[in-house]
Order: sequence, then C-alpha cells, then structure tokens
Amino acid sequence: MEKKIALTGIKPTGIPHIGNYLGSIRPGLELAEKFRAFYFIADYHALNSIKDPKILREMSIEVAATWLACGLNPEEVMLYKQSAVPETFELFTILSCFTPKGLMNRAHAYKAKVADNLKNKKVPDDNVNMGMFSYPVLMAADILLFDADYVPVGKDQLQHIEMAIDIAQSLNYTYGEELIKIPQAYVREETQTIIGLDGRKMSKSYNNTIPLFLPPKKLRKMIMKIVTNSQTIEEPKDPEKCNVFSLYKLFADKDEIANLQEKYLAGGMGWGQAKQELFEKIDSIIAPKRERYFDIMKNKDYIEQVLKDGSIKARELCADKMERLRSALGVK
Ligand code: TRP
Repeated sequence: MEKKIALTGIKPTGIPHIGNYLGSIRPGLELAEKFRAFYFIADYHALNSIKDPKILREMSIEVAATWLACGLNPEEVMLYKQSAVPETFELFTILSCFTPKGLMNRAHAYKAKVADNLKNKKVPDDNVNMGMFSYPVLMAADILLFDADYVPVGKDQLQHIEMAIDIAQSLNYTYGEELIKIPQAYVREETQTIIGLDGRKMSKSYNNTIPLFLPPKKLRKMIMKIVTNSQTIEEPKDPEKCNVFSLYKLFADKDEIANLQEKYLAGGMGWGQAKQELFEKIDSIIAPKRERYFDIMKNKDYIEQVLKDGSIKARELCADKMERLRSALGVK
C-alpha cells in the first residue's frame, strides 16, 4: 500500500529553539518514518511579519539547516521552500473563490486583531493587510496541493486545518467530484506544551525560549536561569511541580527520569544540581546535532541545492493534479 502523506509548514520567523525541537522537529522526524513526509519552509507566510529580505533569506536557510542537522534525510523527505512552488499561489487564487469571506472573519488571529483594535479605539481593520486576512487560504493551498492525509500541527493551528477542509469540500461539492483530497489534523498530546524559562509555554513571543544550538557554556547559563521555587537543598522536592523536571522528562529515558525523580523526593539535591543534570542531559543530545548544524551552515550552497531539489520534486508531484483541476474548472 502506498504510504500516506504527512505535510506541514514551518514559518521561518525565528531561530529554532528547544520548544520547536521537542514540539515539531523531533516528532516530525518520527512521523517521517511512517509517512511520506512533506516539510516545507513557509516563507510567504513569514512575509506577513518579516519585511527584511536579508532576515527572511537567512531564517529560511537556518530553519532548513536545523532540520537537516537533526536528522532529516532529504532523499526521503520533501524539504522545500513554499515560494519555490508557484502552483501554491495558483491554487491559493482558486481556493479564494471557494472561501466565504465570513469564514475568514472568524479566524482566531484576525478576530483577536480586530478585538484589540476596538479595545484601543481604532477602526476594526487597522493594520490588517490581506496577507494576514487570507493567511488560512494560503495555508489551505499548501496542504491541498499535495493531497496530504495528515497535517501535524500544534493546537493553535487546528482552526486553520478545519478551514482548509471546509474550503476543499466546497470546491469538491461545486464540481461534484473529489478533485481535492480532504486532509486531517494530526495533533500529538504529549508535547503540546513545552515549558519555557519562566514556567510559561516556551514561545518567542514570551521571550522565554532556549535556542537549540547555543554553545554549551551559554546553554548552561540559560538553563541556570529556569525559574524554580525557593526550597532549600535539604528539602524534598516535588518533581511534578518543577520546570526543570518537566524539561528533563522530555529528553531523558525512563530510567534516567526515575533516577532524578528519586533525588527530588529524597531531598539533599539543590536546584543548581538539578539544573546541572538537565544541562548535561540536553547537551548530550544536542551536541552532535549542533556540530552538524555548524558544518552544514558552512555550506549554504548545499542547503540551497537541497531546497531546490525538493521544490523540483514537489512541483512534479503536483503537476497532474493541477492539470486535472484547471481542466475541471474550465481554465484549460
Ligand atoms: N501556519 C503555520 C504556523 O504558523 C505554518 C504553516 C504554513 C503550515 N502552511 C502550513 C502548517 C501548512 C501546516 C500546513 O505554524
């Protein structure tokens, strides 16, 4: 049986951090063993927030290099830049004609923006451009272009997947045939919330992230900044209520977790020591990837080539489907 397709976009809007690694890269690589995976750099989605060409270009390369360094095999997985697959934007135009404006009015990000504008006594659409407003349609085009079966995303993106499904159904219904496959979201519960330095969800917008490829000394320094309570060394500690332990659990194996848990419960271990254990664990896992990352980054031509090859393959894979679609619509 043919493998099912898993597809997801990665917005190149920041240096990849440990939350991205645990929440998207690591599970993405696991998924790629089971499914035919399409992982692309959503650079035109990023254009909404990044209007500096140098940064957009660099971020796109860095994100691609991060996936490669973490073990993505470009022979197996489609890795490409969204911008290099122009069929995406043709499909976006098509899908726009099957997207009720009211559906977009209900998108979370847009609704939040309007609410914020009203609160600040501005006109509802202040500072809203069409790129932001129709963001979910572009995302639908990314997904529907390749007949993806599963779309691995965080919970914040679920609404967008539902919108993609609605849009696809509306198009199929109009022409009375399944021109476009209906995708499904793929949400993993266990890694939904990765705790950041301050105990809140690790997120660029909270400024509490740990960049993935920091040099060891800086990594250690950051880990030492993780917020803990003020218990003394002697006191037994509750691992389940600890930001250090919650990160440790995501990197260590069962025995290591049980071991550290015992030390928490027994007392006699200070926060400095717990953090040191966390640092050593993370560093042992990240170090080889970090080395590979800096090697790969020395050879940007290689990264560009991988992305280019990926986009050529991707374009071949969507060519027939686009032909069928054009013909069904009557533009060909
Ligand atoms: N909107 C997604 C995010 O912000 C990124 C994205 C763009 C995406 N296109 C996609 C995710 C297609 C899944 C499928 O994280």
